[in-house]
Amino acid sequence: MSDLDQVTLSAGDKLVSLPVLKPTLGNSCIDISKLTKETGLFTYDSGFTATASCKSAITYIDGDAGVLLYRGYPIEQLARQSTFLEVAYLLMNGELPSRGEMTAFDREVAHQAMMHESLRKFLNGFNYDAHPMAMLCGSVASLSGFHHDTLDLSDPEHRRQAAIRLIAKVPTMAAAAHRYSIGWPIRYPRYNLDYVSRFLHMMFELPSEPLELNPIVAKALDLLFILHADHEQNASTSTVRLVGSTGANPYASVAAGIAALWGPAHGGANEAVLKMLEEIGDARHVDAAVAKAKDKESGFRLMGFGHRIYKNFDPRATIIREMTHKVLGELGVNDPLLEVALKLEEAALKDDYFIQRKLYPNVDFYSGIIYKALNIPTEMFTVMFAIARTAGWVAHWLEQQVDPEAKIGRPRQVYTGHAKRDYVGIDSRK
Ligand code: CMC
Repeated sequence: MSDLDQVTLSAGDKLVSLPVLKPTLGNSCIDISKLTKETGLFTYDSGFTATASCKSAITYIDGDAGVLLYRGYPIEQLARQSTFLEVAYLLMNGELPSRGEMTAFDREVAHQAMMHESLRKFLNGFNYDAHPMAMLCGSVASLSGFHHDTLDLSDPEHRRQAAIRLIAKVPTMAAAAHRYSIGWPIRYPRYNLDYVSRFLHMMFELPSEPLELNPIVAKALDLLFILHADHEQNASTSTVRLVGSTGANPYASVAAGIAALWGPAHGGANEAVLKMLEEIGDARHVDAAVAKAKDKESGFRLMGFGHRIYKNFDPRATIIREMTHKVLGELGVNDPLLEVALKLEEAALKDDYFIQRKLYPNVDFYSGIIYKALNIPTEMFTVMFAIARTAGWVAHWLEQQVDPEAKIGRPRQVYTGHAKRDYVGIDSRK
């Protein structure tokens, strides 16, 4: 953190003093909100690589040291000791729940997990081969049409209920989307199961026989959900905040976040990693893949490598890497793609191109291999990310609603088009 309290910018013959904001952890920020008024200048930062868009007390990342904290708690401790639903409570409310608070939260989420029958019919309107992210995005947006009676955003109780509905219903809609695509009737959420087991039951129970839940699978999925629950102002969370800043309702805002997550540079990477590993196919082809990734003409990147913030090991990837070996061992799965992944990681980590650019495996590199071992279909991988990240999205949306400094998000631009010119009639155009 910088010791400076202010910086002085020299703009022509004018000196402008800009205050420096001090976070509790991390980089200090120059507050440029008065810059344009004082100088007539805007700032330019494509991709927001050096720009803070809000103040937030939810998640902290130190990308150089490989540190990730949710509400101050290290991800390693939460991964070892907590559960996803407890983490969701923590993200939303700022503190870990007491036993009574946790029981009440658990019960409320369970009772909100049902979706309206009309929503099921809505999902049935999709083509059978629609991508489940398309179905999830559409069905989450449509929740605004089902719960408009509790959408007074100035009412804290309405806001809280919307957040809980989203955490509760996204897994139900995700499982329904999957079952629709394979032609199975949907399963209704069981109140007597924990959050992750309820989801697994809705995903996998056969219409003809009860499902025996495997605790190893439930534990692994719970851990993956914890690791994906929040990641401060990433592209999808920033999208939720940008849409939320207009006063749009939380269902619309989270649907926009789901759309942003879908891209392969963001949450879509887990699906892309598995497809890439399948294409590489054999550890003997790894060197060729690394060479292709270094060739800018190829347009190919190693999916699951690199991160805007982490210039060191992504701590989530470290946990997932360890867990991959354990889970595959416990489930007795021998996946040749794991060998390809290990060889690829090894080759990239000792390659100058990746070393110089500080490109390390990220959270998505190994998660696909575990999802595959848990029988989650590849096209559902990004949906799994969305289920977990809903906890982070609603926490950020709730925080934004009470932020006294929050304004509608409205960036400026460096205009590069034509200067003013006169309209030319169609017959006079060259
Ligand atoms: N393979 C090969 N080269 C890469 C890769 C990669 N995966 N990632 C970055 N580079 C190169 C890039 O070509 C550039 O090289 P140069 O300096 O010579 O032009 C340099 O590294 C910096 O890349 P950048 O695109 O400017 O970095 P960024 O911070 O804008 O992008 C990223 C970060 C995650 C989008 C990018 O690393 C990437 O596309 N990775 C693959 C997709 C992926 O795994 N995404 C999941 C991210 S983690 C989960 C999540 O956030 O959802």
